[in-house]
Amino acid sequence: MRTVVVNHPLAATLLTTMRDERSDNAAFRAALSGLTSMLVYEAMRSAAVEEFEVRTPVAPARGYRIARPPLLVPVLRAGLGMVSQASALIPESRVGFVGVARDEATHQPVPYLESLPADLTDQVVFVLDPMLATGGSLRYTVSLLADRGATDITAICVIAAPAGIAALDESGLPVRLVVGVIDERLDDAAFIVPGLGDAGDRQFGPR
Ligand code: PRP
Repeated sequence: MRTVVVNHPLAATLLTTMRDERSDNAAFRAALSGLTSMLVYEAMRSAAVEEFEVRTPVAPARGYRIARPPLLVPVLRAGLGMVSQASALIPESRVGFVGVARDEATHQPVPYLESLPADLTDQVVFVLDPMLATGGSLRYTVSLLADRGATDITAICVIAAPAGIAALDESGLPVRLVVGVIDERLDDAAFIVPGLGDAGDRQFGPR
């Protein structure tokens, strides 16, 4: 699986705010939003563009538009905090939604919402989820998208654990990964260490 780690000083400082247990919900959301810009910027690096002519106040000039804007698919809840910034950067994007809660005991994904276009053939898709821990939630989401015909899927995450990357890779699903940082490991509760806690709770409060 193609994996890009966004290694940048500004990304590192925003990630530090997200890790810091003293950051309140608002500070956490603001840092996630800023970091999402950088992750999406990197994810769009190889996007095809179409040229068209615009006129400046002085003369004609070459203009560009994104040839195939991605469908943005946040994985609820935590992925919601990435939508606004991703849509601001790619205003033509549509948004679909997948809700998956990880069972605290088994760590298996429990789906509870699916709102997606029926046919994703030829549709570029960006899945937004800050955390890739065991990989169960992303595997589930990416397989839903692949079942609808998507073959060009990018998972955009803030933090990943090596086990989650391996699980996604071994799934054989058509996905690449753009991630802010790869952390050390999972603990016994399948939390990323050192991680940042529960990205849903840290944005919106405990369930
Ligand atoms: C978290 C996180 C991912 C998932 C990662 O969500 O936002 O979706 O767990 O874990 P995995 O890779 O082991 O599947 P959670 O289930 O806590 O729901 P929330 O976003 O509503 O807090």
